[in-house]
Amino acid sequence: MGNGESGVWGCAGAEVRGKGLEEIIYFFNNGLQNSSSGLYPFPLIPLLPCSQLNLQPSPPPPPLSVPPHARLKPYDAPMMPDPFIRADEVLHEKWDSRALELELEHGNGGLLGLVSRVGSAGPFRTLSPWELEDPQSHRTLNASGYSALPFGDNYPPLLEFVRSYLEKNRQIGLPQQSVTPWRAALETNLIRLLAQFAPSHADSRVFFSNSGTEAVEGAIKFAKAARPRAKHLIHFSKAYHGKTLLSLSLTPNPSLQRGFEPWLIPTVTLPFGDLEQFKSTLKKLGPDNVVCVLLEPIQGEAGVVIPPPGFLRGVGELCQKYGIPSIADEIQSGLGRTGHWFESLAQGWEPDIICLAKPLGGGLTAVGATLMRDAIFKKLLGKTNDVKRHSNTFGGNSLAMAIGLKSLEILREQNLPERSERLGKLGLERLLKMKERHPELLAEVRGAGMLMAMVFRPVIGTKWLPIGGQIVGELTGLLAQRAFYQGGVQLNFTLNVAKALRVTPAMNMPEELFEELLLKLEHTIERTRTAGRLLTGTSRAELLSLAEYVLKNG
Ligand SMILES: Cc1ncc(COP(=O)(O)O)c(C=O)c1O
Repeated sequence: MGNGESGVWGCAGAEVRGKGLEEIIYFFNNGLQNSSSGLYPFPLIPLLPCSQLNLQPSPPPPPLSVPPHARLKPYDAPMMPDPFIRADEVLHEKWDSRALELELEHGNGGLLGLVSRVGSAGPFRTLSPWELEDPQSHRTLNASGYSALPFGDNYPPLLEFVRSYLEKNRQIGLPQQSVTPWRAALETNLIRLLAQFAPSHADSRVFFSNSGTEAVEGAIKFAKAARPRAKHLIHFSKAYHGKTLLSLSLTPNPSLQRGFEPWLIPTVTLPFGDLEQFKSTLKKLGPDNVVCVLLEPIQGEAGVVIPPPGFLRGVGELCQKYGIPSIADEIQSGLGRTGHWFESLAQGWEPDIICLAKPLGGGLTAVGATLMRDAIFKKLLGKTNDVKRHSNTFGGNSLAMAIGLKSLEILREQNLPERSERLGKLGLERLLKMKERHPELLAEVRGAGMLMAMVFRPVIGTKWLPIGGQIVGELTGLLAQRAFYQGGVQLNFTLNVAKALRVTPAMNMPEELFEELLLKLEHTIERTRTAGRLLTGTSRAELLSLAEYVLKNG
């Protein structure tokens, strides 16, 4: 390839010279054809002979590629595999060094393979709630956690409280089983908090679940129960609402949705921020045909996209005019990270349903919550005969509720929304200055409170490569993540815009650590200067390994 790169590569071209580049070009040109993905043959095991089911007999299953002696063991084999990994051994860190290998073998090896290629697979020790140390004794400040760690890891006041809770020796309090004062208190506090800003929610209700996506699924189910004849769900471009099937249908990312259509309920995707198009679509569909409108007040997985002023308010007013339930997905933006308890309300939109999750579990467990108007709640769970139409086993259990209750209390008593706004503003100003100084590395910087994002220029142009921008975006995100990790900061990948990384430190990170975090970000940006240097600053072997991963999984 010689010197052929100049004039071939895009924005980063001038910088992309030297080691590894020719192999990468070769890899991109040939890797796709060479990469083979072997599918594991899963045989079907019929429970009844086909003749009894009046079906055509299925073709014989393909032979298993495992030797016969490794298949099923006789029933009298010992119940526990040998050696069985005991909980105490894990507690005493005996399996730390093998954790990655075991996860690669039995868990989501692809995902952890990716993280290990960046060098940040851990397992980590916590030096403090905000500082981590990897097995090579490399210390990093944690600005990752996907907005789910409001207090960092193992925040002592929360741990202390949980220890006291466990000593109370109470029943787990599953919702089908009994009342629990923990759930009662959290329900009451959440609704009082909401009603403080939106008084018409004073009699609203809460349904608890075990994740964000389940909180969204619940919201849609409640809305559909309230409007059973309506047909369409309205949502917005680049949104992220989760990956269970209904939430996934509302997460318009082709790489996530591929192969899962048709959707249970038809969806209409509109450009985020375009009020006129929303208005005309309502008219076209007929407002009575719309089940609900779902949106994030600030789109997190799109790389912290803030809608134009007036958009959210306008959507809310139109929904109210036509009696369409509007749903705010505040799973990432809510409970203080963007500087407000509820970003929707701060922007003048009063939703009928609000989904919460991530920080409500205090970084210790999963708590999902769907808050909604009483009238909507009662459409699904109102009549005595209907009270079981929506439920789950563990949502609202006492332990989760106790953690949620204490987390809300810490957020409130330490005034963390206000703190997040103040420190986030400072962080955004510093990152914006970095963007001005290094426009060949940073294409954009955005933020609201302690939810910030840096969008990087692509590490190579795609003009002459047989690959799309998506793959280059993935490689850019990985290389940037790796550079910041080496520079002492853990950041978040961004699902819908791979070349963006998010900065989401704990909202209670001490100011001196927050200052250190900003210095480390600035230092890495100063050292890198251009997107192309993310490539050339990486060893040939690492680069090939990342490119291989991206080509196979991107
Ligand atoms: C806005 C938003 N909604 C829903 C979800 C899904 O939450 P979970 O991953 O807990 O299912 C996320 C997760 O990132 C999110 O950011």
